[in-house]
Amino acid sequence: MSQMPQATLPDGTRVPVLGQGTWRMGESRSAVAAEVRALQAGIDLGMTLIDTAEMYADGGAEQVVGEAIRGRRDGIYLVSKVLPTNASRRGTIAACEASLKRLGTDRIDLYLLHWRGRHPLADTVTAFEDLKAAGKIGAWGVSNFDVDDMEDLLSVEDGGNVAANQVLYNPARRGIEFDLLPWTARRGIATMAYAPFDKGGIVDHPVLARIGAAHGATAAQVALAFLMERDDVIAIPKSSSLERLAENRKAVDLKLTPEDRAALDAAFPPPKRKRPLEMI
Ligand SMILES: NC(=O)c1ccc[n+]([C@@H]2O[C@H](COP(=O)([O-])OP(=O)(O)OC[C@H]3O[C@@H](n4cnc5c(N)ncnc54)[C@H](OP(=O)(O)O)[C@@H]3O)[C@@H](O)[C@H]2O)c1
Repeated sequence: MSQMPQATLPDGTRVPVLGQGTWRMGESRSAVAAEVRALQAGIDLGMTLIDTAEMYADGGAEQVVGEAIRGRRDGIYLVSKVLPTNASRRGTIAACEASLKRLGTDRIDLYLLHWRGRHPLADTVTAFEDLKAAGKIGAWGVSNFDVDDMEDLLSVEDGGNVAANQVLYNPARRGIEFDLLPWTARRGIATMAYAPFDKGGIVDHPVLARIGAAHGATAAQVALAFLMERDDVIAIPKSSSLERLAENRKAVDLKLTPEDRAALDAAFPPPKRKRPLEMI
């Protein structure tokens, strides 16, 4: 197996550019054992960054993750998120403690504000900094923040400590390439690309499939290779299938040619003007 490329976070921590998502996990009791096995198989393949959130299955996904990492917390980079409705100064602390309990650990490596809500950013950031000082989180970041939100964030005290912004990004959703991605990269903040398969919507896309076929690869692998061309973008595909996890891991070895790039640009033109950040 080839080495997993790494991204460097602002505090110097190195994380794999390919992690694992967990949305829709923990929703059905009968699926939990398979989901735990899938996450563990992904970890064994080097996809040791795991993305979850208190929102997913109302804490159920965090419980699945907790089960998957029990006895093997070392070497895992754990990402979770606080809901905007909980993101007051006190609420953020309480939400984090509840997440830690469900995850069965004493530390979340990266704790994100899931999207911007009504609580002042200054309050959420103060809570994040308090959690960091207490060792309950290693770093903090945001999700679904566009450039104007990021600028607001940087204007509050300690807002510049933001480590990552997790946003929708895949070959079919390239809006962030116009401004948010370069803005973030210039400041050394990591971008986490969620829904790299557009929630599964592009895994059969004919152009991706054609590009992949020339390399003996699949459309899904092309979508991941597109994202992994940059070492400051961390992709977090979700799969509960051992076969598809192995397939996704192998995308690390797929190198797109300039012709592949041109075919992608023709099918999914890069943005020529500002588009509001899309979310799902
Ligand atoms: N911050 C946010 O607001 C936000 C929003 C959305 C998502 N996220 C995070 O990003 C993660 C990924 O996004 P997502 O789960 O929405 O969608 P996704 O990763 O784009 O797609 C997941 C879907 O693709 C399928 N799949 C996985 N590998 C495949 C392959 N090689 N070939 C064909 N199908 C494949 C999965 O099915 P199987 O499981 O059956 O393989 C699943 O149905 C989430 O799980 C979550 O952690 C964050």
